Amino acid sequence: MTLNRRTALTGIVATSAAFTLAACASEAQPVPTVSPSATLEESSSPPASEQLLGKASEVIVGSGMKYKISDALTILVTRPALDTFRAFNATCTHAGCIVTGVREEQIVCGCHGARFDTDSGEPQSGPARSALGKITIEVRGEDLYALI
Ligand code: FES
Repeated sequence: MTLNRRTALTGIVATSAAFTLAACASEAQPVPTVSPSATLEESSSPPASEQLLGKASEVIVGSGMKYKISDALTILVTRPALDTFRAFNATCTHAGCIVTGVREEQIVCGCHGARFDTDSGEPQSGPARSALGKITIEVRGEDLYALI
């Protein structure tokens, strides 16, 4: 049996392709699987802690009250309506001053004059472009609690 040049080259190419495919197949790595419960545990945030702020009656309708929680957090509670309480991080989103309080039904920052809505915390006028950070607040009996 004699091999011509064309038959020999075809055999070499076919053999080489088979080795390449085998090499690729052996390089595949198993993909580790993560159980759904592990994924949920890793992505869930820690539970909020409760902070007693004070009496609900301290916050007069249409006004606001500040509560210093720590050096890094002061909370402003507003009461836009009799049964409506809102809480915000009192740090102004413009340049970081603590807002002054509520005046003329708006949250006012005395540093550069930003004003925010007492219900939503959205900026209304002045240099601030983003809303005050919202904080969950609950009324329990006579007391106000912030969930932070
Ligand atoms: S820091 Fe509040 S307006 Fe500038």
